[in-house]
Amino acid sequence: MKHLAEFTLLVLGIVLSVSTCSVNKNNSRLINEDVIDRKIDSLLTLMTLKEKVGQMNLYNGFWDVTGPVPKGVSSNLKYEHLKKGYVGAMLNVRGVEHVREIQRIAVEESRLGIPLLFGFDVIHGYKTLSPIPLAESASWDLDAIQNSARIAAAEASAAGINWTFAPMIDISRDPRWGRVMEGGGEDVYLGSKIAVARVKGFQGDDLKDRNTIAATAKHFAAYGFAEAGRDYNTANIDNVTLLNTVLPPFKAAVDNDVKTIMNGFNTINGVPVTASKYLQRDILKDGWDFNGFVVSDWASINEIIFWGHAKDKNEAAKIASIAGSDMDMEGYVYIQELTHLVKEGTVSESIVDDAVKRILRVKYELGLFDDPYRYCNEKNEKEIIGKKSHHEAVLDMAKKSIVLLKNDNNLLPLKKEGQKIALIGELAGDKNSALGSWRLASDDNTAVSVLEGMQAYNGNELTYKKGVDVFLGRTTFIHELNINTTDSSGIDEAVELAKSSDVVVMVLGEHGFQSGEARSRTSLQLPGLQQELLEAVYKVNKNIVLVLQNGRPLVLEWAVENIPTILEAWQLGTQSGNAIAQVLYGDYNPSGKLPMTFPRNEGQIPIYYNHVNTGRASSREGNVFWSHYSDKENTPLYPFGHGLSYTKFKYSNLSIVQNSSSTDSKVKVSVDVSNIGDYNGKEVVQLYIRDLVASVTRPVKELKGFELIALQKGETKTITFELTDNELGFFNNNGDFIVEKGDFQIFVGGSSITSLQDQFTL
Ligand code: BGC
Repeated sequence: MKHLAEFTLLVLGIVLSVSTCSVNKNNSRLINEDVIDRKIDSLLTLMTLKEKVGQMNLYNGFWDVTGPVPKGVSSNLKYEHLKKGYVGAMLNVRGVEHVREIQRIAVEESRLGIPLLFGFDVIHGYKTLSPIPLAESASWDLDAIQNSARIAAAEASAAGINWTFAPMIDISRDPRWGRVMEGGGEDVYLGSKIAVARVKGFQGDDLKDRNTIAATAKHFAAYGFAEAGRDYNTANIDNVTLLNTVLPPFKAAVDNDVKTIMNGFNTINGVPVTASKYLQRDILKDGWDFNGFVVSDWASINEIIFWGHAKDKNEAAKIASIAGSDMDMEGYVYIQELTHLVKEGTVSESIVDDAVKRILRVKYELGLFDDPYRYCNEKNEKEIIGKKSHHEAVLDMAKKSIVLLKNDNNLLPLKKEGQKIALIGELAGDKNSALGSWRLASDDNTAVSVLEGMQAYNGNELTYKKGVDVFLGRTTFIHELNINTTDSSGIDEAVELAKSSDVVVMVLGEHGFQSGEARSRTSLQLPGLQQELLEAVYKVNKNIVLVLQNGRPLVLEWAVENIPTILEAWQLGTQSGNAIAQVLYGDYNPSGKLPMTFPRNEGQIPIYYNHVNTGRASSREGNVFWSHYSDKENTPLYPFGHGLSYTKFKYSNLSIVQNSSSTDSKVKVSVDVSNIGDYNGKEVVQLYIRDLVASVTRPVKELKGFELIALQKGETKTITFELTDNELGFFNNNGDFIVEKGDFQIFVGGSSITSLQDQFTL
C-alpha cells in the first residue's frame, strides 16, 4: 500500500515542478512552500486518523535514556507501532546501522511508508565536542558559534541524525539552575544573537543538504526562571519580563526559520507550558506565524497531570493538543488517547491535521520523502565523525571561550622556559569532566586534560599532584555525584610541591556532571575540599594561577580577593587541555567576556546586570532604609560582560549623532578603541542604553550592540553602532512594542561596567 502514497506524490510532484519552471526566483520560496503544502494535503487524504495521530508520536529508542520510561512499556510495542505507521519520530537512535534499520521498518513495512525523523540531543557537538554552550557564549563570537553548530550538525547527520534538540535558548539569571550551562547566559540581546547563530549553524543554507539537520529552539518558555533555581520547578514571571526577556530569543529563532520548538517541564503563572494555548497558539503560531511544529519535552504532556492541571491522560491529551503541542515525546499519551478524543468530538480533527501537516512539512524540507536514507551513509559516518578539521575547529572555539577574570601581577602568560611549574588539582589530570554532561555520543575520558595540554610545552619543569580527591565513585549522566568532604590526605604533598615551585597552576571547579539537567545546587562554592587545598597552597606560594572549570558562575570571593590570576575555562570539550595550555603560555590571547554575572554569594541570586533601579537605589548618609543587604554589597563579584586580555584597551571619543529624518537608524554611536598594551589582541566592544523615563520602568542598562574586534599593538579603530526602533523600544504590559520619546543614556566599554557614557534625547 505504501506504493499508493509514492505514486500520488510522484504524479503531484511532476505536475507541480513543470508548472513552476518559469517562475521568478523571488517567488520560488513561496511556490516551493505551496508545492510542499499540496503534497502534504494529498498525503493527508490517504491517512487514517490513527496514522495521523501516529505522526504526533515520538518514541525514545532503546538506549541512551535521557528521561523516565513508563513502567510496562516494552520495545515490542515500539516495533509494533513502527510497523503500523504509528510513530512519527524516534529519539536516541543513532549510528547509520541503527537508523537505517528503524527507518526501513517505517518506510518499508508500514502501510504508507512515511519516513521518520531521528532526533538527538546534539547540544555542543556529536562526538567531537566543542565547549558547553555557556562557554561558547563567552566568546561573543557569532561566526565561531555558528561554525561550532555546523560541525555538530555535520557529525550528527553523518551518524543518521536529522534533528537536534538544540539550541537551548532559555535566558536565566540563576546559576543555581544547572541548565545555565546549556544556554546563552542572562542577557536577551546576546542570547538572541546566539540563538540565531546556532540555528543557522545546525540548519545551514538548505535543509536538504545531507550535512544539515533541523534545529529545536527550547524550552518554550521561561524554563530558565525555575523558582529558586531548582530544575523542573514552577516559574513566576511578570508579563514585561516574559515579553522583553524570555520570548525574544525564540522570536529571533522563528524569524530565522527554526523548524521546531520544544515546550518544557515548567508551569508559567500557574499553567504548565505544555498546556499553554497562550504561548503555543496565540503567541507562537498565530502571533509569529511559526510554521514548524512544537514537540513536547520528555513526557511533559503526562506531567500536566502531576502538576494538577489534568485529571488523567485523556484530559492531558485534550489540553495539550488544543494548546498546540504537536508531538508527544515518549509520553504515550497522544497515541493512547487522541484518536478516541477526536472520534467522540472532544478534539477537532483539524487540530490533528494541523499538527501532522507541520510535522510532514519538516520531513519534506529535510528531503526525507525524496530519500528516507539520505542520512544513512556508512562511508560518511566513518570519514566525517572525528575529522581532524573538526578537532581544529573545536580547539579554536575552546580558546575563544576562555575568560581571563584577573591577572594582577601579570603571572600570565607563563614564561616558556626555565620555570618550575606545579600543576595541582584533580581536574588538571582529568579527561572526562571537560566533556560536560551532554555528551551522549562521545566516549568517556576523551578530553585532552590540562596536564596533557601543558606537557606539550617542554621548556619548563612541570610536576603534577592531585591534592585532594574530589569526585568519588561513578560519574555518569544519570547518577548523582559523590563528593569527598572528609579525606584531605593529599593536601600536604601538594603543599610541598608548591613550596619548591616558581608558579603554581591550580585547576579547580565543578565536575561536568555537576551542571546540566537536574543538577541544581544551593552552594556554588568550590565542591569538596578544593577551597581548603587552595588556601593551604596559597600559604606557601602566592604565585597561583587559578584555572576554573565549571558549568555555571561560581562563588569565589576568597579566591578573587587573594589569588592574583584567575582564568575561567568552563568545560571546554574534547580539546579542553590544549586550549587552556595555549592560553596559559600566551600562544592565544584571551578575549572572552562573561555571559552571566558572578555573584559574591548565593544570597544575591538572582543577580543580573540589567535589573531595574528600585525606588531606593542608594543610601542617604548612612540611612538604613534603602534597597540593599546589610551583610553584603549589592554589586556582583564579576559583572556581565567582564573579561580581560594580556593587552590593554583604551576607549575614547564617544560621539552620538542623531538622525531625525531616518525612520530606520535613529542614532549613531561611535567610539575609538585603542590597543595600548604589549600584545596583539581582541576586544568585545559593548554598547548599553538606559531609557531614563518610560511608561514601564526600564533596566539601568541594556546591551544593545557589540562588536568583536582585533587590534594590533598600538592600533586604534573607530567602531560605530546604530540604534533603531528595535533597540530603543520595548513591550509594555499590553504586549505592544512601543518606542517612547525622551532621554536615553549611552554606555560604551569592555564590560557592563563601562568606561564612557553620554546622553541623547529622542
Ligand atoms: C530535556 C530536553 C531534551 C530531552 C530529550 C529532556 O529531559 O529537558 O531538553 O531534549 O530530555 O533528551
